[in-house]
Amino acid sequence: MNEKNISGDVKDISLTEKGINRIEWAAREMPVLNQIRERFNKDKPLAGLTLSACLHVTSETANLALALRDGGAEVALCASNPLSTQDDVAAALNYHYGIPTFAIKGEDDSTYYKHLNSVLDFNPNITLDDGADLVALIHTERTDSLKNIIGGCEETTTGVIRLKSLSNAGELKYPIVAVNDADTKHFFDNRYGTGQSTLDGITRATNVLWAGKKVVVIGYGWCGRGVATRAKGMGAQTIITEVDHIKALEAAMDGHEVMKMQDASKIGDIFISLTGGLNAIDAEHIKTMKNGALIANSGHFNVEINIDALDKLSEKKQRIKEFVDEYTLKDGKKVYLLGEGRLVNLAAAEGHPSAVMDMSFANQALSTEYMFKNASSLNPKVYSVPKSIDNEVGKLKLLSMGIDIDTLTSEQEKYLASWEIGT
Ligand code: ADE
Repeated sequence: MNEKNISGDVKDISLTEKGINRIEWAAREMPVLNQIRERFNKDKPLAGLTLSACLHVTSETANLALALRDGGAEVALCASNPLSTQDDVAAALNYHYGIPTFAIKGEDDSTYYKHLNSVLDFNPNITLDDGADLVALIHTERTDSLKNIIGGCEETTTGVIRLKSLSNAGELKYPIVAVNDADTKHFFDNRYGTGQSTLDGITRATNVLWAGKKVVVIGYGWCGRGVATRAKGMGAQTIITEVDHIKALEAAMDGHEVMKMQDASKIGDIFISLTGGLNAIDAEHIKTMKNGALIANSGHFNVEINIDALDKLSEKKQRIKEFVDEYTLKDGKKVYLLGEGRLVNLAAAEGHPSAVMDMSFANQALSTEYMFKNASSLNPKVYSVPKSIDNEVGKLKLLSMGIDIDTLTSEQEKYLASWEIGT
């Protein structure tokens, strides 16, 4: 083992070897990012940059961090959620790969913020965020960081919504690329990644049989669709609750039952929130749930389940097993909260599979390069990932899967560009 760096804060150095194996295992399924890493290593397009990244510290993120480092950047990493860190990966990054890493699974909120502050102490030029906590800190307590920052990238739906609010308020201080908005990100990561990993997290935590269960999916965005489709595929009866008419209509035509949360709460066996909003599962829903109901969140923040209300409604709380808390309500009914209401796919499982993070992090790596090259001509606004990057990621992923597709003939191209030929 090649020990390089001890400046970070991770759980246990003895996990390093395990973390190295895990990072290498993930790399097998990340061919697009690997290609970018090879080019970065050769051309060093990020030379001279310091990057502070606040991302889920997983084996896939490790591969992104290594690609950015090979591109010539100094990278410091902290967790974007207190419960999503893979401690072995954090140890390997910190001690073997020399990437200062500040992340411990289960860290309390004050350690979480201490770690965010630590990555800012590296004086970044570009920030990489997942959920916009780092940007929020920079815009409040750490405005000193602004002097070096030229731009940033944001990974997730919730983060992009927060940044757009900051921008609309005229307060955003530097340009940020919304990686989430790339088609090769949200069509795949949010749908297939969240779909599979959410069921994985709930299964690992509970070993529940999905077949025949009534699964209530709250929110039918890309993540909700993914979860509902996969749950249906496992034999569950899926129920969707929504506040958006068009998404509710789509859910109904996709073959799910659609109803109000108050009605769904009486019949569901498993509840999964993916709204990005507040108190999607609230006191009035918990009160009417069946005895034994499982409650999980796969949205970014732990605000979707009203845990304070759950505490107040309960006379006893007991940890039954890892990631499963039993709440005994005052009427004697028991409900089970998974992963403390935090992202269940990262808390109780390993997050999205590497093959899908390949595309998300290829977009991150290329958007970082784009930001470095173009920051001086960008304004403090939220930008989409350039279409050329999105297309390139899609093309490379298809190639890596051995899939070849057709191209238009010149005759077809001419037809599509014309108006003369009709009936
Ligand atoms: N977000 C969801 N799954 C993830 C993963 N495996 N790595 C990093 N971020 C993620």
